[in-house]
Amino acid sequence: MRKEAMSEFAVLHKTDTGDYLRIDSLDLTLRICKGGYIPRSGLYLAAHLSQRGVQGEVLDVGTGDTGLLAYCMAKLNARRVMACDINPGTIECARTAGDNQAIDWLISDVFANIPKNYRFDLIVSNPPQLPMPIQGALHDYGGPGGRATILRLISGARRFLKDSGSLVMLCFDFLGVDERWSATPSLEEIAVDHGFTLKVVAQHEKSVKPGGQTEKHLPWIKAVYPLYQFKEDKENNPVHLIQIVELKWQKKQGAF
Ligand SMILES: C[S@@+](CC[C@H](N)C(=O)[O-])C[C@H]1O[C@@H](n2cnc3c(N)ncnc32)[C@H](O)[C@@H]1O
Repeated sequence: MRKEAMSEFAVLHKTDTGDYLRIDSLDLTLRICKGGYIPRSGLYLAAHLSQRGVQGEVLDVGTGDTGLLAYCMAKLNARRVMACDINPGTIECARTAGDNQAIDWLISDVFANIPKNYRFDLIVSNPPQLPMPIQGALHDYGGPGGRATILRLISGARRFLKDSGSLVMLCFDFLGVDERWSATPSLEEIAVDHGFTLKVVAQHEKSVKPGGQTEKHLPWIKAVYPLYQFKEDKENNPVHLIQIVELKWQKKQGAF
């Protein structure tokens, strides 16, 4: 068996019978299905949620092959956990990745199949958000500007959040979270237009991996967000921030 520390939060175990993600602080082991995606940026959001604590009824949109955030929230004592993904194969992998029988798994294009009468205390998501000129893998493709799924989460959350609820999302800073990097409004401005406040509650530097999808699309990202400047790490790889944002209602929903 080989062990690889993914972050301070999680360790990847590679064995002859398959790969597992182990999160000791939550006593959680998740099986990675054959050829499945190994969570990386999602681990930052999972670590943030485990520090923040989770209560009540929660929804994970775009749960991924391990159902990482859903299983973490179940361990963190959420009263009810629902998790969805647009990809049926992903939902099958996630359903069997851990041993929690109480999570409700759903195939859904963002909120499309979430029962209309449900209201959540917390909606979490690490949505696909890479700007790409042509359609790419569901895991990464965020539309030409990278924000397509994020914008659907912001507009749809109106309907599915309780008055005291929050939407907690992971966003790449180059998309223009609380600043504009192109002529388009920042995500914060858009959230405010939808009746929310948006706060960056945590952030982490991330180096762009040589050969990865972000590196491949760097020229496009720079063209779409021309005011954004990538920093560089010690090996001269571009660096950007992963930001965890929390949206809450500015006023009670009934006031709109
Ligand atoms: C970046 S991965 C995040 C996976 C996992 N939540 C994590 O944090 O590691 C994005 C996930 O969103 C799913 N997805 C993409 N478009 C979606 C949509 N329109 N509705 C629901 N899920 C979607 C993808 O299949 C993928 O599993």
